[in-house]
Amino acid sequence: MGVDIETSMKVTNSSTTLVSKSGQPVVTAFQRTLWVLNTLYYVILGIVSLIFLWIFCDLSAINDTQYTLHLILSTAAYVPLMAVAIFVFAEDNVAALYIPRTKRYSIHGILLLISCVAASIGMAVMVVRKSENNRSHFTSKHGKYGLASWVLLFASVLTGIFAANTRFFSKVFRPVILKLFHNLLGLAGFAMGIAATYVMVNHLRNSLSSSALTGMKVGLIYVTIWSAVYALKSLYGQIKGVFS
Ligand code: HEM
Repeated sequence: MGVDIETSMKVTNSSTTLVSKSGQPVVTAFQRTLWVLNTLYYVILGIVSLIFLWIFCDLSAINDTQYTLHLILSTAAYVPLMAVAIFVFAEDNVAALYIPRTKRYSIHGILLLISCVAASIGMAVMVVRKSENNRSHFTSKHGKYGLASWVLLFASVLTGIFAANTRFFSKVFRPVILKLFHNLLGLAGFAMGIAATYVMVNHLRNSLSSSALTGMKVGLIYVTIWSAVYALKSLYGQIKGVFS
């Protein structure tokens, strides 16, 4: 209203904020909707993570340390850690507004490092526990998804290290190809890990009502889609980059 919009100018780190000639930011309705959905994302991520942690700590009373470690570490590796690590690059991420891209790379790397360590320990303790009980490995849908996720994540970390050091590797691989593989493998690993968690939510039926179980499933789906949507957008850009 009465504000001159200089459409060619954009506020850094925000995909849709325009700046008027007088230097005042102009926030579009679309931008506000994104901020609301982003805030909702953090609220749901917090609720889902806390409910998982609450139940897992409660289950720890059954005195099965290995099982408790598996539950807490494997789940926390994906929700909230990996989800936040992927989402950190979203331009409209309310928690990361105006953090420069170089710093976001560091946050992404640190969160993913913690996530991979947690996922590895979480799965390893379950493998050991099953071996001690003479049970065969990776036979269930849950176990297969979990293993596939772990393999994909390590491949993603490897390509991520290459992508972050283009000075050394750009002679062998085009940087855009490394970034594309890192993104693709990471997203596939994240989706597999969430799928492994999703198929186990019903295991928590003694701790939650059936409507709360449904709420957890819906929350997991929302968090997964919203975490990945910006990464998918950049994947599209990378695919275009490969063929340009
Ligand atoms: C709600 C959360 C979770 C619950 C209740 C849970 C529970 C279990 C149980 C009961 C087993 C033993 C039975 C079986 O092999 O299927 C198991 C195994 C396993 N879990 Fe989880 N888990 C959870 C989260 C995760 C996550 C997030 C991952 C990783 C993505 C994961 C990866 C695995 C793997 C790889 C095995 C198989 C180990 C083997 O076969 O030696 N779990 N989990």
